[in-house]
Amino acid sequence: MYGSYWKAFVIQVWIGLLVLSAPYAQGNRQDDGLQTRHEGIPTPLTDRPGDAERGWRIVLDRERGDCVVCHALPLPEHYFHGTVGLPLDNVGNRYTAAELRLRLLDPKAMNPHSIMPAYHTVAGLHSVLEAYRGKPILTAQEIEDVVAYLLTLRNEASQTPKAGRTPRRPQHETSPYSVAGRRSGYTYLSEEHRQLQDDAFGNPGMLWIERGRELWGRTQGDDQQACTSCHGDAATSMRGVRVHYPQFDPRTEKLINLEQQINRCRTEQLQVEAYPYESEALLALSAFVSSQSRGMLLSVDVEGPVAPFFEAGKAFFMRRRGQLDMACSHCHDEYAGQRLRGEVVSQGQTNGFPVYRLSWQTLGSTHRMFAWCNTAIRAQPLAYGADDYVNLELYMAWRGRGLPVEAPSVRR
Ligand code: HEC
Ligand code: HEC
Ligand code: HEC
Repeated sequence: MYGSYWKAFVIQVWIGLLVLSAPYAQGNRQDDGLQTRHEGIPTPLTDRPGDAERGWRIVLDRERGDCVVCHALPLPEHYFHGTVGLPLDNVGNRYTAAELRLRLLDPKAMNPHSIMPAYHTVAGLHSVLEAYRGKPILTAQEIEDVVAYLLTLRNEASQTPKAGRTPRRPQHETSPYSVAGRRSGYTYLSEEHRQLQDDAFGNPGMLWIERGRELWGRTQGDDQQACTSCHGDAATSMRGVRVHYPQFDPRTEKLINLEQQINRCRTEQLQVEAYPYESEALLALSAFVSSQSRGMLLSVDVEGPVAPFFEAGKAFFMRRRGQLDMACSHCHDEYAGQRLRGEVVSQGQTNGFPVYRLSWQTLGSTHRMFAWCNTAIRAQPLAYGADDYVNLELYMAWRGRGLPVEAPSVRR
């Protein structure tokens, strides 16, 4: 990959020395840019010099550099640049090739909490999506090409980039959708999309509610029973149920979520088959049951026997994973409110689920969302209904405690 093992060795020693010797700024997550100036990696990774023209294509390519997902670049044809990192307008004025090379190879050397991926590393990655396993994001030659391109980004007039971040919204905006800094995805929606959610006739999720209402009353199984046979009117029996799921199930001694409870009633009470995860029928019933708690506040139990599951869910949220080596917390805690490419990242709250996502053109569960976010960072998604996802669901519900149930909500 490097052309010679000797070169690879030299690079590793370089990185090793830098990591050991430099007095890096400790854990300052809000810092943009290099806190500590140092020489970086002066030796090019390849014999062939970098090509700025190729580098330009790489930084725009979604499968390769995709730097614009986080950084603005001086390219008039691209309007939807991210704001997670600073604009790169004049990095060529500010950094040497050696410094840029280090930044691309080992961003965590400068900031151990960095969200920026290490572009030429395969070591230390966790649960990488199969297609990307064992492969770095960029080859050594591509790194050199990107460095060559970055060095052309010079701006004679100004030495410092203009502020790239969109201003953070006030942390304690008061509305039912925002509690003590915890903000529902609703607060990140455009006015038009909020109205769509609020419109009892226009909200596309209402189709599932109607379907769920119909299934709730439908008799089935040998005894020709329906959900109503035992639970009666959902408006009373199911009111408040959604706010305390997932919860501890003493029979299996692990967590059970709402979808699993509905399926348990199907198999054990009605003695019919469980619905597959993400089937229209299961989404319809979970949306219907959830909607009986609309406006009620999330309040899951996380103590006692649930505590270990809660801790496991929290650890999942904090763990870096995938080829891009990011944790849920990177996007949804640290950079909530910033733009990833054109899209504002929310806190990733789950109070709206199941949600109608316009980009999916259908309703989806929390587990579908978790799998979507895992795949976005090129991490292996888990099977829907997996214990680890149910544990994560509990942590997410606690993290959004006090936010109102919105099902069926509308999201972009
Ligand atoms: C997931 C978001 C993300 C991606 C993708 C990303 N970066 Fe960054 N980058 C950051 C952040 C955040 C910083 C600020 C320092 C830090 O926290 O590491 C940064 C810092 C930088 C810096 C130093 C900027 C300065 O003004 O001091 C350079 C140069 C840079 N990135 C280049 C790139 C290039 C080139 C790519 C694509 C190959 C890229 N980045 C991809 C998030 C990202
Ligand atoms: C024969 C009686 C019976 C039928 C029919 C039945 N359930 Fe249940 N349901 C129960 C019992 C008993 C519980 C208490 C938990 C358990 O034992 O699983 C329960 C619990 C629930 C809960 C959790 C309530 C809470 O407070 O946590 C939900 C949700 C639920 N059922 C949904 C349904 C749905 C949807 C249907 C129709 C597909 C259905 N049930 C059919 C007996 C029934
Ligand atoms: C690379 C950044 C990134 C990472 C890492 C990430 N997500 Fe997301 N997530 C997004 C984006 C973008 C969206 C869609 C816009 C939004 O709602 O924030 C989203 C949406 C969500 C939503 C829906 C919020 C709503 O209101 O409907 C949830 C829940 C969520 N993410 C959970 C997670 C979890 C759990 C993880 C870790 C397994 C994770 N995300 C990792 C970027 C990320």
